[in-house]
Amino acid sequence: MTVQSRHERFQLGSHADLTCCADRLGVAIPFSEDIQILFSPLDVAGYRLPNRFVVQPMEGCDADPDGAPGQLTFRRYQRFAAGGSGLIWFEATAVIAEGRANPRQLGLTPANVGAFRRLVEETRAAAAEKQELLLVLQLTHSGRYARPEGTPRPVIAQHNPLLDARMGLDPDHPLISDAELDQLQEAFVGAAKLAAGAGFDGVDIKACHGYLVSELLAAFGRTDSRYGGPFENRAGFLLDVVGRIRAEVPGLLVTSRLGVHDGLPYPYGFGADVETLAEPVEVAERLRALGCPVLNVSLGNPYYNPHVGRPYDSPVAGAAAPDEHPLVGVARLLHAAAVIQRAVPDVPVVGSGYSWLRQLFPHVAAGAIAAGDAALVGLGRLALAYPDWVRDLAANGALAPDKVCTTCSGCSQIMRDGGRAGCRVRDSGIYAKEYRQGRAQAAGRKKQDKR
Ligand SMILES: Cc1cc2nc3c(=O)[nH]c(=O)nc-3n(C[C@H](O)[C@H](O)[C@H](O)COP(=O)(O)O)c2cc1C
Ligand code: SF4
Repeated sequence: MTVQSRHERFQLGSHADLTCCADRLGVAIPFSEDIQILFSPLDVAGYRLPNRFVVQPMEGCDADPDGAPGQLTFRRYQRFAAGGSGLIWFEATAVIAEGRANPRQLGLTPANVGAFRRLVEETRAAAAEKQELLLVLQLTHSGRYARPEGTPRPVIAQHNPLLDARMGLDPDHPLISDAELDQLQEAFVGAAKLAAGAGFDGVDIKACHGYLVSELLAAFGRTDSRYGGPFENRAGFLLDVVGRIRAEVPGLLVTSRLGVHDGLPYPYGFGADVETLAEPVEVAERLRALGCPVLNVSLGNPYYNPHVGRPYDSPVAGAAAPDEHPLVGVARLLHAAAVIQRAVPDVPVVGSGYSWLRQLFPHVAAGAIAAGDAALVGLGRLALAYPDWVRDLAANGALAPDKVCTTCSGCSQIMRDGGRAGCRVRDSGIYAKEYRQGRAQAAGRKKQDKR
């Protein structure tokens, strides 16, 4: 770390400030004064998206106990739909109960598919100016971060000393077997069929952030297994599932949110060489060959290095600020999307990690699209904070500084504390209380632990 790359809070008021900061840090940040390209339509798998904005998957942890969307889930997606993005990427949804990251994670089952159908219908009905929406559901197994009843029930593909130590995982903890992974393939395919029946246009096989499918991509140390060791084996689960869904659920779009750089050294992380991203490029090319019409690129592991995937001003409680300027993180995310986009130029790539840039993000996004570094722009936290940002930007040519995300990590904190996640700053009517309750409960637990 150079002295200049120390963590700093956002203090960029203008293009000049951004350029000066990027120069000081030695990173490349694209920029375009003209943002019209963000409002140019794009055809994806036969759908005409009205603009280049995508709402990224963002777990609200507000499902009913059976995994069906709850009241706040409906509210969140209606707000996103009314906001004006053409593509809404629904949050992580477990394909089996044991794979849930928390007891309020969405989980799609034959018994609750009707509730998902209502969610799709009500989301479409809320669309701004009745525009057509492309709706993709993210399917997941939370792997080592599974907490289906609220306490850890890790399902791991391999031992990883860096992650195991952080979690206090026993060295004897068993690995998921090949036979169990074969069965899990069935669960992904079954969930995709249900998603098609619920009216989603597509599904994403989540392969990022250290969850099970992403851990398999990095399972260099998984020996004597059809799903570990050589590249073909490590990528096999993801590619098999995508291929099977393409064959068995005709008409359903299949994609992946691909974690192309875990931020862990070889042999513990996928895409360890962030400059070349050689293996992630290979996976992207394979997914293209399988007919994926769009790809979403992310980085990092929110439990190990959260700043890598979501650069922020303030960390969650108890965590130290990283030894990295958030703009360096933004530059890494832009670079990763660009490497993948250039490798598969005919597949639109959704770039991630723009929220830290606040009201400057449209200019950076327009610069990235103009340069061919991504075709679509995904917003996570900013979408929670400011769900109608697309309409505001179209109407005023700029975002309102008092509506953007402040990257305070409040929404992540609520998740950590076991609450329903949302923006405590800009949607405080609901989420400030949720935040306070979560913090109070966490303090209570700490006190009890000390006794
Ligand atoms: C509260 C919260 C929930 C999230 N849930 C998901 C999720 O379900 N699936 C996923 O792929 N990423 C998830 N993410 C990551 C975001 O999609 C996004 O990649 C990240 O926040 C960086 O984008 P941003 O800078 O626009 O926020 C979540 C992030 C937060 C803060
Ligand atoms: S709580 Fe709101 S302002 Fe803070 S990081 Fe989350 S979305 Fe952004």
